Amino acid sequence: MFAERVLSGMRPTGSLHLGHYHGVLKNWVELQNEYECLFFVADWHALTTHYDTPEVIEKNVWDMVIDWLAAGVDPAQATLFIQSRVPEHAELHLLLSMMTPLGWLERMPTYKDQQEKLSGKDLSTYGFLGYPLLQAADILIYRANQVPVGEDQVPHIEFTRELARRFNHLYGREPGFEEKALAAVKKMGGKKAKLYEELRTRFQQEGDDEALESAKALLNDTQNLSMGDRERLFGYLEGGGKMILAEPQALLTVASKMPGLDGQKMSKSYNNTLALREEQDSLVKKIRTMPTDPARVRRTDPGTPEKCPVWQFHMVYSTDSLRQWVQEGCTSAGIGCLECKQPVIDAVLEEQKPMRERARMYHDDPTLVRNIIADGCEKARELANETMRDVREAMGLNYS
Ligand code: TRP
Ligand code: SF4
Repeated sequence: MFAERVLSGMRPTGSLHLGHYHGVLKNWVELQNEYECLFFVADWHALTTHYDTPEVIEKNVWDMVIDWLAAGVDPAQATLFIQSRVPEHAELHLLLSMMTPLGWLERMPTYKDQQEKLSGKDLSTYGFLGYPLLQAADILIYRANQVPVGEDQVPHIEFTRELARRFNHLYGREPGFEEKALAAVKKMGGKKAKLYEELRTRFQQEGDDEALESAKALLNDTQNLSMGDRERLFGYLEGGGKMILAEPQALLTVASKMPGLDGQKMSKSYNNTLALREEQDSLVKKIRTMPTDPARVRRTDPGTPEKCPVWQFHMVYSTDSLRQWVQEGCTSAGIGCLECKQPVIDAVLEEQKPMRERARMYHDDPTLVRNIIADGCEKARELANETMRDVREAMGLNYS
């Protein structure tokens, strides 16, 4: 009945490169055609690690949005916004913090990993420990069903699911739930009602899973129940109530196959990137000077493509027949390395052409981007507030 909603965020801690494009953004562009999509700039998440250099974040926020738009994320199809412009995320983060067991956060694999990886920085902060909780709030506030993330983020989604379950269990009881459930039991009729009660007690007091299954089967077989009553009785069995927060799924993004200029994974920290909107001259120069198979010292020395970073670019960009040409030409010294690089240069330039055009349009008219984000933030706030009304009510905070 409900359309699937997709949500994902990105931290504005540096400029985007082709690794981001092939790993994440191309995927977003495809998703926006199929689902209702919300994509946001996770500036608060960036502050958890960059609290001492906020200027880095400030500089990257708008550039990152331009990069998204350049890559083909379409504001007519997807909602784009900035996390800190939807302060409801912070409210939900706070409210969830009341019922989040500290151990769940302390045991998060990313917590210790990142602290070790960024050992030059003091990350024994309250905000950094709460990173996954803030992420959970981002997701739950939109009742997102699908969250595209990389493998490293899967524990955060699992944590979000557990938190949603815990929240629903604690606060998901509608007013008068108990009475309504008991009335529904009566409606089942004497014999069935008695059996339901027995099975429920066996499950709740002895943890008897078979009793739970039998009770569910019994409910499915009972004809004279309304939808609402049936849902209540399912909830009542397991002790839960109404579902307020929805459990999301991780939509695993396959790791980018995009190599860096030196053959390692493309990454800012290896200094081997091509920016998403790299200047043409710079791009041509970078590829022309990138290393090749070290065995090809002279033009007449044959080489082995598998030992050459350029070959990996051919794996991303070239057709089978072009690859064949590389294999033959390289191993026989029939082609030179500059010759071999030319089709790669052409392919990357071709890929970037529409991106560069879109980027120019947004770059030349910054109000376009400001307006897209303003609209997105407004839309996001409306959705966030729908959930927050339910959350505030469930937690007893809707005084009037
Ligand atoms: N933690 C994510 C990352 O480092 C970014 C992020 C923040 C996010 N909030 C999110 C991703 C919500 C998906 C959903 O990549
Ligand atoms: Fe690499 Fe191509 Fe040169 Fe072979 S010919 S070493 S694959 S750049």
